[in-house]
Amino acid sequence: MVKDIEIHPIKTSKIKDVDFNNLQFGRVFTDHMFECDFIDGQWTQPRIVPYGPLTIEPSARVFHYGQAVFEGMKAYKDDNDDIFLFRPDENFDRINKSAARLAIPEFPKDFFFEGMKQLLLLEKDWIKKGWGNSLYIRPFVIATEGAIAASPAEEYKFMIILSPAQAYYSQEVRVLFAEKYSRSADGGVGFAKAAGNYAAQFYPTSLAHKKGYQQIIWTDASTHEYLEEAGTMNIFFRINDKLITAPNNDRILDGVTRKSVIQLAEDANIDVEVRRVPVAEIKEAARNGSLKEIFGAGTAAVINPILGFEHAGDVFELPELDDAYASLFKEKLMNIQYNKAEDPHQWRYKVS
Ligand code: COI
Repeated sequence: MVKDIEIHPIKTSKIKDVDFNNLQFGRVFTDHMFECDFIDGQWTQPRIVPYGPLTIEPSARVFHYGQAVFEGMKAYKDDNDDIFLFRPDENFDRINKSAARLAIPEFPKDFFFEGMKQLLLLEKDWIKKGWGNSLYIRPFVIATEGAIAASPAEEYKFMIILSPAQAYYSQEVRVLFAEKYSRSADGGVGFAKAAGNYAAQFYPTSLAHKKGYQQIIWTDASTHEYLEEAGTMNIFFRINDKLITAPNNDRILDGVTRKSVIQLAEDANIDVEVRRVPVAEIKEAARNGSLKEIFGAGTAAVINPILGFEHAGDVFELPELDDAYASLFKEKLMNIQYNKAEDPHQWRYKVS
């Protein structure tokens, strides 16, 4: 049963100070946030409160052991001002899978959906209409108990914060294929949206930036011979007209956009192979001209073409195509998200 959510509204909105035409991803947050604490073995009274700083013990385990998981979702507004989410059940299931792996208690489904809905309705003016505009939704859970024994906390905070968004990558994206560092390993937490998975990428990615690459495509930790994912996105390769992507396993995030692209490709009778992707095969295909495209797929990034890559000193540029799969899937996906097309798989979830 949903407990009634307590709402503590702000007095004056800051929305008038926001330039919605020049948003940098994840810099501006709406007026309110949702929070719910886990204390004495249960999730307590959920609240919507003004967005602002938290007071947390410096000894909270989130700071010492990284016991934290999160999700990424978006709300879209159509021309009639109706608000939609995209496959939110997938995010709910995934945050609880991530939580279970980090010994965090699962969050109840009715709190998740009711909290998100009420928060979105309160903040509906922050969801701008128009192609590419959305309100990015960041649910997360952190271990708040003040105690530094290296064991799971007994107290947690589940929160949802909202940030108006446009494109995630504002520049062209070229990538380095990982040769030395790894994002995740067998039996690890790579499949989870664990905060630490992202922190672990920052240093190698900063080295890639210095070489002029925006992202790394991670390879398997044991051999570095197979391409896996890009950390902010799952990755697809197009060889001739075939689409190839790595299979889900315990090292790769089970992306909602990824599985939607696979379904859209199947719907369009495009040949899709979900299998290991050897670095050597992609380099050979780039050399012989059969590699037509690489693109990333993720909630924040949507579908992002990758224009070139480097591996072991070999640099490749990809051709410019008029009929790119990246554009086709982006259009198909966004048409469903913005309620501009049929939704044959019932992916849209109406909030209002
Ligand atoms: C998302 O796509 O929602 C993510 O969580 C990726 C994040 C690094 C922005």
